[in-house]
Amino acid sequence: MSQFDVVVIGAGPGGYIAAIRAAQLGFKTACIDAGVDKAGDAPALGGTCLNVGCIPSKALLQSSEHFHAAQHDFAEHGITVGDVKFDAAKMIERKDAIVTKLTGGIKFLFQKNKVTSLFGTASFVGKNGDFWQLEVDDAGEKTTVEGKHIIVATGSTPRPLPLVDIDNVNVLDNEGALNLTEVPAKLGVIGAGVIGLEMGSVWNRVGSEVTILEASPVFLAAADQQIAKEAFKYFTREQGLHIELGVKLNKITSGESKVSVEFVSAKGEAKTAEFDKLIVAIGRVPNTHGLNAEAVGLQKDDRGFIVVDGECRTNLPNVWAIGDVVRGPMLAHKASDEGVAVAERIAGQKPHLDFNTIPWVIYTDPEIAWVGKTEEQLKAEGVEYKKGTSGFAANGRAMGLGKAKGTVKILADAKTDRILGVHMIGPMVSELITEGVVGMEFSASSEDIARIVHAHPTLSEVVHEAALAVDKRALHG
Ligand code: FAD
Ligand code: NAI
Repeated sequence: MSQFDVVVIGAGPGGYIAAIRAAQLGFKTACIDAGVDKAGDAPALGGTCLNVGCIPSKALLQSSEHFHAAQHDFAEHGITVGDVKFDAAKMIERKDAIVTKLTGGIKFLFQKNKVTSLFGTASFVGKNGDFWQLEVDDAGEKTTVEGKHIIVATGSTPRPLPLVDIDNVNVLDNEGALNLTEVPAKLGVIGAGVIGLEMGSVWNRVGSEVTILEASPVFLAAADQQIAKEAFKYFTREQGLHIELGVKLNKITSGESKVSVEFVSAKGEAKTAEFDKLIVAIGRVPNTHGLNAEAVGLQKDDRGFIVVDGECRTNLPNVWAIGDVVRGPMLAHKASDEGVAVAERIAGQKPHLDFNTIPWVIYTDPEIAWVGKTEEQLKAEGVEYKKGTSGFAANGRAMGLGKAKGTVKILADAKTDRILGVHMIGPMVSELITEGVVGMEFSASSEDIARIVHAHPTLSEVVHEAALAVDKRALHG
């Protein structure tokens, strides 16, 4: 039987980072993961993020952007291309190669940091003195592993829709949506959330007619509504995504080659839509399947999340939980930072993780990114604030890129000028948002950003202008 100081369950961005940090801090560490590759026959580290989430989706977004640019944007640069063709299978092949390279990279990092990597499904058995006992089941071959500290990082799975089963042939979850080797003529998406918009954008750009059916009457309810409204306009009017808000699904029938969706629209009309493929992306649920949490009394809440305090401690001594399986946003960087913090807490350090400054990014075109409070939240909380906005329309770098669209908005406390939220839609705002995150982490005022020299010509000048606009002294507005 193997004994370790730290055993991590799950090798997604939460678990693998926690394991590496624990090993760096001198702990004898193991990481157990049950993930397999696309073919289903070899272990694949990296969890949802690397295999069927963040990384593959961004690879497809890039390929589809290139195709779209070749068709629609090259001409104005004086570039003539012939008959531009699209090969979906080739795009998927490229994506798979990126996934294989990155998941292999984690294997290398484990070796380098002397993390013992174990394959199989881990479940709690009980306790042996100071050590928690886990069983690792690799296709029926069972071993026992003991750890003084256990970090549960088992992630999440797609939330099922009771009306239809996912077969990943006609009705797809994120995994199926990332593996289509032919462009569906008509693509339906249930849920106008992050996955719906990113995957809808990919297939829309390469030729699908995409319809997104969303239950909420509010588009991107978690985002600042000024930014969400601007995004809705670009996606629907300019890019041709059909987004129906406020729908109620009644029936979904998956036939041999078509999927039919019966729903009631926001206006109360009964409608039926027929699609070649249907993506279901209605959120994700915590994954504690196979963990045998009940055996040791590991507490879960009524939605299935493992209950933790602000420092990721569960109700059991020396059992921690991080990432998608606990409260908070289901984001890779949140999972990783919790992993680092837990490893450091085990080592007796006092790490800091500010949940108010976790950035969100949606990788549509234009991209959407934010950190901190929205205007709607500040109003609801009765916080007095001032705001500054600036657009990309007159930004020289954005014009050169052919992406002169979007807005940056900075919200600052009315009295102290401390930045409370930064909201962006525009080119590469996934990168620009870091200025807002750093500013908020250091309790910056909008004046601090306004007084920082921003290189010219860059997209970041729009952030600078927005900061100046908070004090009503924008130079280009
Ligand atoms: P996971 O990545 O889900 O990893 C959990 C691991 O635990 C898996 O490998 C699983 O096999 C293993 N496991 C589960 N149970 C057991 C068990 N009992 N024994 C052994 N192993 C077990 N987030 C972003 O920040 N940016 C993005 O751009 C982004 N894009 C996304 C796109 C899509 C399509 C999807 C679906 C998600 C995306 N996310 C994104 C979310 C991100 O993938 C998750 O927040 C992140 O992967 C959570 O990390 P985690 O380590 O908590 O869990
Ligand atoms: P989501 O929570 O972002 O969106 C789900 C949407 O489905 C919501 O708008 C919801 O109102 C809607 N919905 C729920 N039930 C419905 C129903 N019955 N009919 C119609 N609509 C319904 O979840 P999504 O898109 O599945 O993504 C899951 C999570 O994965 C995200 O919340 C995010 O944490 C993570 N993710 C992050 C990305 C990023 O950071 N760029 C990219 C993709 C996913």
